[in-house]
This record gives sequence, structure tokens and C-alpha cells, in this order.
Amino acid sequence: MEKILEIKNLNIEYKNLKNANQLSTKAVKNVSFSIKKGEIYALAGESGCGKSSIAKAIMRLLTPVSGEILYEGENIFELSKKDALLYPTKVQMVFQNPYSSLNPKMKIGDILKEPLDINTKYSKNHKLAIIKDVLNEVGLDNNALSLYPHQFSGGQRQRIAIARALILNPSLLIADEPVSALDASIQAQIINLLKDLKVKRNLTILFISHDLSVIKYLSDRVGIMYFGELLDENITSSIFNFPHAEYTRKLLAAAPTISL
Ligand SMILES: Nc1ncnc2c1ncn2[C@@H]1O[C@H](COP(=O)(O)OP(=O)(O)OP(=O)(O)O)[C@@H](O)[C@H]1O
Ligand SMILES: [Mg+2]
Repeated sequence: MEKILEIKNLNIEYKNLKNANQLSTKAVKNVSFSIKKGEIYALAGESGCGKSSIAKAIMRLLTPVSGEILYEGENIFELSKKDALLYPTKVQMVFQNPYSSLNPKMKIGDILKEPLDINTKYSKNHKLAIIKDVLNEVGLDNNALSLYPHQFSGGQRQRIAIARALILNPSLLIADEPVSALDASIQAQIINLLKDLKVKRNLTILFISHDLSVIKYLSDRVGIMYFGELLDENITSSIFNFPHAEYTRKLLAAAPTISL
């Protein structure tokens, strides 16, 4: 299968802003992996191991110290101005916290319209048609358009965040802990929604989670991170049945099992 994204020897550091003499945090250390078109690749690992930092680098929200990220073979940090403007139409992200990622002062209709206003020249009617389609695709009806984020439950808010990420019809969707703040039954609904969307839209998904039961159910391949390093990587069944790294075995032994 063709690669959609390739990460090569990625290093990410955060400078200590309070004290420039102090060592910076090495959040991601020499990480390399690639994501194939049409697969769900899961990044797993405990809190602070660098998962979101990798996601933010892929979104071009931070610049790595060294290493490369290639999207469709092109280094995303060396794109022409035109390609850089197009990049958000290809790669989108559902952020870790659905409460802070949706502007509380904006109606859902405006939240979903914003990416279209910024990135397209579609007519008003065309934009509205896209918004309604995507909203229905994530399981919400048109009444949602005139409401505000606080008028929805956590699960519904996450559906809105997914709709916003899909509005520009991206090829690669990054979902950073999209269900960790939700109840188990709602988690299952959102996970199944992502599974359906993957098939319907031929999406490639980078799914970030510390929850191994969700990863086992959803993903095609898994990368296991530990303190900034990618320690283990394999197809999902092999990771769970024949874990390679000592740390993966420990992580699996410590994981609670929930059924989806
Ligand atoms: N903006 C920042 N400034 C300084 N340090 C940061 C910043 N963001 C993350 N870090 C540090 O970088 C490391 C990796 O953080 P990151 O958020 O990528 O981990 P994570 O795997 O996503 O964790 P979680 O599962 O809790 O979301 C951590 O030590 C974290 O404290
Ligand atoms: Mg994170």
C-alpha cells in the first residue's frame, strides 16, 4: 500500500521559557514511522510520551528541531506558499479536548462554516449544503446549526469537532484522544462513527490514544511510544498477540479490558 505520510527521525523539543539556561524537554526522540493510505494507524503510550507533539508537528503547528515529515512525498515544512495554503484541506485534526477546541461563542453553523470561508470560494448555498451533509454524516440534524457548543453533550460535541475536521474533505484525519473524555457507551458510538467514516470517505486516520482496548478494536497498525521514543510497531493483531518490546508487554498486562 502507498504511503500517505512518512515521518523520518523526528525530534521535538520544548524550550524552557522561564529559564533559558535550563535543559529543554525532549518530547519526541528520533521517531520514524509511516502511515499507509486508507489505514487506521494508532499511536499509543502513557501520558506525556509525545503523542500530541507528533500530531501537532504533522499539523504544522510546531516546528521540529530536526527530522522530516513527508505528506504524499513532500516535506511539509518546505511547501510552497500555495501548497502550504492547500495543506489544511488535506490534513485535519480532532483535538484532544472537545471543550476548548470549539469556540463557545460561535453557533455550530458558524463553527462549521469557518474552514470553508477561509479555504474555499464556494457560494453561500454550496457551503450550507456541505455543512448539512457533514452534520448528518456525523449523526446530528440541522437544528444543531443555530445552537452553541454548550447546548450539546460531550459525545455530540465530539461529533461536531469531527464534522469540522471533515468539512474540507481531508484525506488524512488525526484524532487525538477523541473519546477519552467520554462515557464508555458514548465512546463506542464515536469509535464506530470513525470506523464508518473511514470506509465511506476512504479516510486515512492517525488515531492517538492511551486506551489499548479501543486501539485493538479500531486500528490496523499500532506504534507504541515511551518517553518520546517509538519502541514497538506492528499490525494490531501482532502487537496484541506477540508483543515485541518488553514495555509493550507491560503496557498490555496493565491495560483494563472493556468490550466494545
Ligand atoms: N507547550 C509545551 N511546553 C513545554 N512542554 C510541553 C509542551 N507540550 C508538551 N510538553 C511536554 O512534552 C512532553 C510530551 O507531551 P505530549 O503532549 O506530546 O504528550 P502526550 O503523549 O500527548 O500526553 P497525553 O497522553 O497526556 O496527552 C511532555 O513531557 C509534556 O510535558
Ligand atoms: Mg496528548
